[in-house]
Amino acid sequence: MEPIVLENSLIKHKLAVIRNKKTGTKEFREIIGEIATLLCYEAMKDAKLSKVKIETPICEMEAEMLDENQYAFVPILRAGTGMLDGLINVIPNAKIGHIGLYRNEETLKPVKYYYKMPKDIQNREVIVLDPMLATGGSAVDAITMLKEDGVKHIKFLSIISAPEGIRKLAEVHPDVQLYTACIDKSLNDVGYIVPGLGDAGDRIFGTK
Ligand code: PRP
Ligand code: URA
Repeated sequence: MEPIVLENSLIKHKLAVIRNKKTGTKEFREIIGEIATLLCYEAMKDAKLSKVKIETPICEMEAEMLDENQYAFVPILRAGTGMLDGLINVIPNAKIGHIGLYRNEETLKPVKYYYKMPKDIQNREVIVLDPMLATGGSAVDAITMLKEDGVKHIKFLSIISAPEGIRKLAEVHPDVQLYTACIDKSLNDVGYIVPGLGDAGDRIFGTK
């Protein structure tokens, strides 16, 4: 599946701010949340709606509403949690699962350390969150775990994606739609996205 890339001047502006190494933790975290909200709007573009009768101050009408209870958001720890508020702000009744993965610095392979889902996860549409899609190893493993748990409908939201990660995700999980704010040039020899924004987890949580 081809990635859906948000083409928008305001997003380009926001990306320039978070890419800048001089931008501090507070502003970095706020913008990650803002872009996550915009990615969520795009991912919900064709979401299923049900008709409901409501009364406006002027008249009765048949409106359309989402069933918020059919969604679950799953951030990949740590950095994915930086995107979570941006989604909960607009779909507050979604349930939340967590997948803990970190990349081994030498092999760049993801290592699992936590997995906890809502008990009815297999009945929900799942939106996985991680700001960085680099080699794609973390995204692929997280989605594999969800599928092993019976999840059938999965979307993946990232802020910055590398061509290597996009290729790997499409190869292993061709049914998963990727929404991203931009596609960068490449990976460097230690697996960081170029030009990227550095280590997203460290910048969100101020750990370096
Ligand atoms: C980062 C990022 C992704 C992963 C992407 O996490 O948040 O989860 O790397 O790389 P990949 O596509 O090559 O797998 P990291 O392992 O640094 O953990 P952290 O979020 O705890 O900092
Ligand atoms: N993880 C990050 O946080 N940044 C990268 O550039 C690649 C993986």
